[in-house]
Amino acid sequence: MAQGDDWMHADPSGFPAPTDLRTEVPHPARVYDFLLGGKDHFAADREAGEAVMALGEGARQAVRANRAFLQRAVRTLAGLGIDQFLDIGTGIPTAGNTHQIAQAANPDAKVVYVDNDPIVLTHARALMSQVGQRSTRVLQADLRDPDKILAAPEVTETIDFSRPVGLLLVAVLHFLKDAENPGEIVSHLVQALPPGSHVVLSHVTGEALTDDEIAGVGRAYSKVPEGMNLRTREQVAAFLEGLELLEPGLVLCPQWRPDEEVNPDDRVSILAAVAAKR
Ligand SMILES: C[S@@+](CC[C@H](N)C(=O)[O-])C[C@H]1O[C@@H](n2cnc3c(N)ncnc32)[C@H](O)[C@@H]1O
Repeated sequence: MAQGDDWMHADPSGFPAPTDLRTEVPHPARVYDFLLGGKDHFAADREAGEAVMALGEGARQAVRANRAFLQRAVRTLAGLGIDQFLDIGTGIPTAGNTHQIAQAANPDAKVVYVDNDPIVLTHARALMSQVGQRSTRVLQADLRDPDKILAAPEVTETIDFSRPVGLLLVAVLHFLKDAENPGEIVSHLVQALPPGSHVVLSHVTGEALTDDEIAGVGRAYSKVPEGMNLRTREQVAAFLEGLELLEPGLVLCPQWRPDEEVNPDDRVSILAAVAAKR
């Protein structure tokens, strides 16, 4: 099989035309890419990202800390023997993607990336074809349609739902409004997972921000159609109800099993947790 052939199974018929990129509208993935110091964004994304940056160095610290949390969490789950991951809200590939962490621990690990942003999928497919990846699949789908995700061939052909799965919902739920029932969506996905599965979740909160900063985040994301829906610790904890939180529980993301000493001056307003389905 030629390098990357596997990626061609990734629903090419459903792949949107370039006009769907809507470069004049800021997109969460591209704003995040700007904040991470990447190159895959347009003027509208930069404008939103610069407004976030204007709030202070904390914004860049936050996205880096979130990314580092994702990597520590995937490493932790791989250490627990989990070898299949469903990563919803993937983001534009950057250093240390889920498949790289998981497959460094176990070369046979399987990963399905799911994102609703066509740019993310274009980059992910290009990356996978470069490295001739076969155990990593890419699906363009929306978290708000969990049944479509669970039924997609990219998922069903890759993930064995009779064995524990790592479900990643990292920095994505805050792009769902309350009216879109993010809690129901999470429990629907969790219901599909067998015992022994784990959920990795992070979510922007206002708890480490001043009122002015909260208002600034709202302004920065005002043109992003999904908005930035900050939630309290209680609201984020509710997403994981019925699951068993791994130590140290739901914490600001730099504090989740840090590899190095946490700088107490870092003001990272993102909550993070890993929780097990028993
Ligand atoms: C802030 S990035 C997070 C990327 C990665 N999970 C991480 O934490 O490094 C959020 C990602 O979620 C995606 N996203 C936002 N809303 C989504 C939805 N309703 N369905 C699927 N993906 C979504 C965006 O396109 C973006 O790639």
